[in-house]
Amino acid sequence: MENEIPVVVAPDACIRCGHCSAICDQDALVNILCPPEGQPLLETFPVLGAEDAERFLRSRRSIRCYKKKPIPREELTRLVNIARFAPTASNTQSIAYHVVDNKDLLAQIVESVIVWMEKEIESGQPFHNSLPGHVLAYRERGVEPIFRGAPQLVVATAPKNLRTKRDNTVFSLAYMELFAPSLGLGSCWAGLFEMYIKAEREHIEPLLSVSPDREITGAVMVGYPVHTYARLVDRDPLNIHWLD
Ligand SMILES: Cc1cc2nc3c(=O)[nH]c(=O)nc-3n(C[C@H](O)[C@H](O)[C@H](O)COP(=O)(O)O)c2cc1C
Repeated sequence: MENEIPVVVAPDACIRCGHCSAICDQDALVNILCPPEGQPLLETFPVLGAEDAERFLRSRRSIRCYKKKPIPREELTRLVNIARFAPTASNTQSIAYHVVDNKDLLAQIVESVIVWMEKEIESGQPFHNSLPGHVLAYRERGVEPIFRGAPQLVVATAPKNLRTKRDNTVFSLAYMELFAPSLGLGSCWAGLFEMYIKAEREHIEPLLSVSPDREITGAVMVGYPVHTYARLVDRDPLNIHWLD
């Protein structure tokens, strides 16, 4: 503050995080790098009670059975939109989303992932020890183990040269996963698809219209869940170390 007026001390260091104007309830400060139009007043919005918040976070589940009905685009846009409010390193953001909502394209990708898994198994040193089971399920039991029959897939991309591309992606997609149940939707991290991407990036990225300066950094399948869950589950006990 100078003469009771805020002054900019390090303009080049501004990361457009919006703290400076969002903290002021008198509308006294406007930062043109994060304009007020995008900053609605919180007014009296309460912080979620601790018990509700714990239940909200603990009740998110990975959904592996989906209804065939696709999510309308407007609703899916609402879901994906929440991802851009996640924290990112130095507020770099930079994540884009490619939504696959064509079931033939999804089926084509599944087949490519399975063919890659078969090659991996043949090599004698598969990328992951779960691959034979997934191939067997797909080829012999008619199970679709990659996207679990989800009608849509959200693929995140980031600039290749962004140091924190995976971190930014993980936070962003986690926001989306947490928001999904509030829209009556379910989701699941597409880790098997991600394994395939790491190995066959040059094939899949052009197919999903990813520009050459970007790469796929994560993917989550989405849809309407078939089942609901009656209970919360537990995890391993908290592993915490106090240093005093
Ligand atoms: C990085 C990552 C990759 C995952 N990949 C898959 C996957 O390919 N297929 C799947 O069915 N679940 C996948 N999952 C979901 C986990 O299996 C799941 O989060 C875990 O079993 C805990 O269950 P919950 O999410 O229902 O609490 C993945 C989760 C993460 C975080």
